[in-house]
Amino acid sequence: MNNKLRVLQVGCGGISNNWLTTLKGREDIEIVGLVDLDENNAINKRNDFNLTCDTYTDFEKAIADTTPDVVIDNTIPEIHHRIVTTSLKADCHVFGEKPLADTMENAIDMVKTADKLNKSYSVMQNRRFLKDIRSFQSIIEKQMIGELGFIGASFYIEAHFGGFRDIMDSPLILDMAIHTFDQARFISGCDPISVYCHEFNPSGSWYKGNASAVCIFEMTDNVVFSYNGSWCAKGNLTSWECDWRAMGSDGAARWDGKSAPWYEKPSDTQNMFPAEYERNIIDNDDNYEEGHAGCINDMIDSLKKGIPSQTDCKDNIKSLAMVMAAIKSSKEQRKVYINEIIDI
Ligand SMILES: NC(=O)c1ccc[n+]([C@@H]2O[C@H](COP(=O)([O-])OP(=O)(O)OC[C@H]3O[C@@H](n4cnc5c(N)ncnc54)[C@H](O)[C@@H]3O)[C@@H](O)[C@H]2O)c1
Repeated sequence: MNNKLRVLQVGCGGISNNWLTTLKGREDIEIVGLVDLDENNAINKRNDFNLTCDTYTDFEKAIADTTPDVVIDNTIPEIHHRIVTTSLKADCHVFGEKPLADTMENAIDMVKTADKLNKSYSVMQNRRFLKDIRSFQSIIEKQMIGELGFIGASFYIEAHFGGFRDIMDSPLILDMAIHTFDQARFISGCDPISVYCHEFNPSGSWYKGNASAVCIFEMTDNVVFSYNGSWCAKGNLTSWECDWRAMGSDGAARWDGKSAPWYEKPSDTQNMFPAEYERNIIDNDDNYEEGHAGCINDMIDSLKKGIPSQTDCKDNIKSLAMVMAAIKSSKEQRKVYINEIIDI
């Protein structure tokens, strides 16, 4: 592989700004083409980012013309399977936006294709790359609260998107909860075993589908993960990163999703109802860039080192499986085991 990675950007909508900003800022990246069904979107990005590459509407022609090392898939979820498998078969690695795929069948096929062809497919999970979540994760990993037994996430946001989210069946679980579920795996270091999910659409909701949900996940290591979420909350909102609580055998930790997390341990352990707790704020700085930039840098650096990125598809499919199992549980009104939909 040359020092400079030749990159083809496919999909030039809203989120491509985050990608192009980081890609343009790296000296080891050469952007060799921009593709969008609407060529004006590609032309606009070329102008906005002062690029000189060609623009395309035909993705297959763009791959043939530019022979990239890496394809960036920033298209909509229904198209990810086609863009990713075509790119892998054309001998390219792929870095793509979440979600990995629109269905479990497509996701499994994409992971198998990458594996068979020995190519890398990494998926954007920008919320892993925040300083505060990494501090929170370190509280659990270093057992500062003892052995983890429970983590809970609350997500209450008032979001008036308009467009496709307002009319889809499971807007919260399908479009948003992938972030939270992936965060739960990252924070706990555990994988999902089963889920019971109850989706609902409370009065006052402006969504057609279920904009609220409660989920209980059984995780490995006897950990329980509970999720309460709504996209139609009208007050007492949380951050988009969620309000988190973790309970361990020796103490408990909190992260509000926007400031440094902390943990507490009782200092008067002899009392029936301990009244005093020692609080420790954890504010690590591990030199990762925040959000998209951190995740994209990890994808590129891992590829160059020949190691899987932190959001490699083989791992990320477990987060997607949590989403798909939750939707199945909600539809069938029963507990669903993750191994009913994927062999992990
Ligand atoms: N990580 C995050 O925080 C985050 C935030 C927003 C969106 N996303 C994800 O990013 C992806 C794109 O979202 P967006 O908000 O940029 O959407 P968007 O609609 O603004 O952009 C998508 C672009 O892809 C183009 N496109 C569609 N099909 C194509 C095809 N076959 N070939 C070439 N171009 C095609 C569209 O014309 C459009 O310009 C989605 O998967 C979405 O879930 C992630």
